[in-house]
Amino acid sequence: MTKNQKSTTAVILAAGLGKRMKSERPKVLHEVAGQSMLAAVVAEVRAVGVGRIILVLGPEFPKAAIPSEVETVVQHNRQGTGDALRQAIPLLAGHPGAVVVLAGDVPLIRPSTIARLIEPLERDGLAIAVAGFTTDQPQGYGRLVLDDQNRLERIVEQKDATEAEQAIGLCNAGAYGFAAEYLPAWLQRLQPNNAQGEYYLTDCIKLARQDGLAVGVAHCAEAEMLGVNNRLDLARVEALAQQRLREAAMLAGVTLRQPETVTLSFDTEFAEDVIVEPFVVFGRGVRLARGVHIRSFSHLEGAVVAEGAIIGPYARLRPGTRIGAAAHVGNFVELKNSDLGAGAKANHLSYIGDTTVGEGANIGAGTITCNYDGFDKYRTEIGAGAFIGSNSSLVAPLRVGAGAIIGAGSVITAAVDADALAVTRAGLTLRPGWAARFREGKKGSMKKK
Ligand code: UD1
Ligand code: MG
Repeated sequence: MTKNQKSTTAVILAAGLGKRMKSERPKVLHEVAGQSMLAAVVAEVRAVGVGRIILVLGPEFPKAAIPSEVETVVQHNRQGTGDALRQAIPLLAGHPGAVVVLAGDVPLIRPSTIARLIEPLERDGLAIAVAGFTTDQPQGYGRLVLDDQNRLERIVEQKDATEAEQAIGLCNAGAYGFAAEYLPAWLQRLQPNNAQGEYYLTDCIKLARQDGLAVGVAHCAEAEMLGVNNRLDLARVEALAQQRLREAAMLAGVTLRQPETVTLSFDTEFAEDVIVEPFVVFGRGVRLARGVHIRSFSHLEGAVVAEGAIIGPYARLRPGTRIGAAAHVGNFVELKNSDLGAGAKANHLSYIGDTTVGEGANIGAGTITCNYDGFDKYRTEIGAGAFIGSNSSLVAPLRVGAGAIIGAGSVITAAVDADALAVTRAGLTLRPGWAARFREGKKGSMKKK
């Protein structure tokens, strides 16, 4: 991190209504790879090491969704991106250095790209550095208009562009580095005389040129610069984010048998030699240790899995789950807020909630922990090496001691001591030949009718 970056303030514009999303949720709170677009942009600028982060938000923005350690200002009348940045000016007074401005709806920008908007201000004496990218689908973006010496002259919005300007493939990514000293005056001078009647931040380029100042373009990869204005864009950006996460996982030593079918989160953590079969979804907060094998059609969220464990196919690990080393979780098994000890097995058709399962215990097919009475949740503790017979209901709060055996089909409502047998089963009735006699009797009555 350089001195430049520390003295830089990042302003993230996120007050727009996002009308094109057709949503009750503010646009920047829509998620990409498990985190809001706004959280993604905040994380990227934080990684650059800027000194301050200011968010420009709409008045209805939910307080609970504001990331920690940022400053905020509210834009009450949304009159465009220039007006949005103007709201942050009072907070910038007396803070020299660079101001990097990012849009909250461009979530894939990389920290190295943000740094490239700050560096040329001092190094090359630029008053503005604009992130530009070339695309064959420029529809909707502002276009970078160059002068006859190939220098940036102005930015024209799609809605204001002539046909010739619309043919320009070099687009404005909506990310800029500004030398702070000029900003207040430029923002004062903006005029809303354009197709949208808005104060365009992009008009600062033209003003800087009028003032005889140098402006430049930092050329960036299209894949980082896609902006999200509607749900189609959101899906495109999600696909790119997933591709990036999968590539990083594979390069870090994870086998993804059919990468394009695996959904990851921004924070999924893998050790080496993890194997993920096709069609697995990782929600937020999953950590997998070395050699873990996730079989097809499993869904994991908020779960930590220790070395060598095997999960799935068709397993569901919900938040608060910890799976011990070499443990097995099989098909149609759901765990929530539970610890499954090392070497323990829950291989078929179970619900295990608010439970601690000791090492090496065996949870038989169809075991259910009854953890909820309609009002409160209760814990179940199963000791090491215990054996829970198939189709048992364990009514919490409950303790099953180490090494105990629960007979299949039992409903256990009281503590079971270590090494005891507990079974709640109606006696077996056996009547030889009864079924055959029953059928004969039925046939006889059919004939009479
Ligand atoms: C903007 C740029 C366009 C660029 C594109 C890149 C302008 C005038 N146009 O267009 O050149 O190619 O981004 O994605 O800047 N916002 C506010 N308050 C407002 C309006 C917008 O905070 O009054 C915020 C939005 O929340 C959003 C960002 O600014 O995060 C960009 O706004 P948006 O309306 O999406 O602008 P674009 O039409 O995409
Ligand atoms: Mg946009």
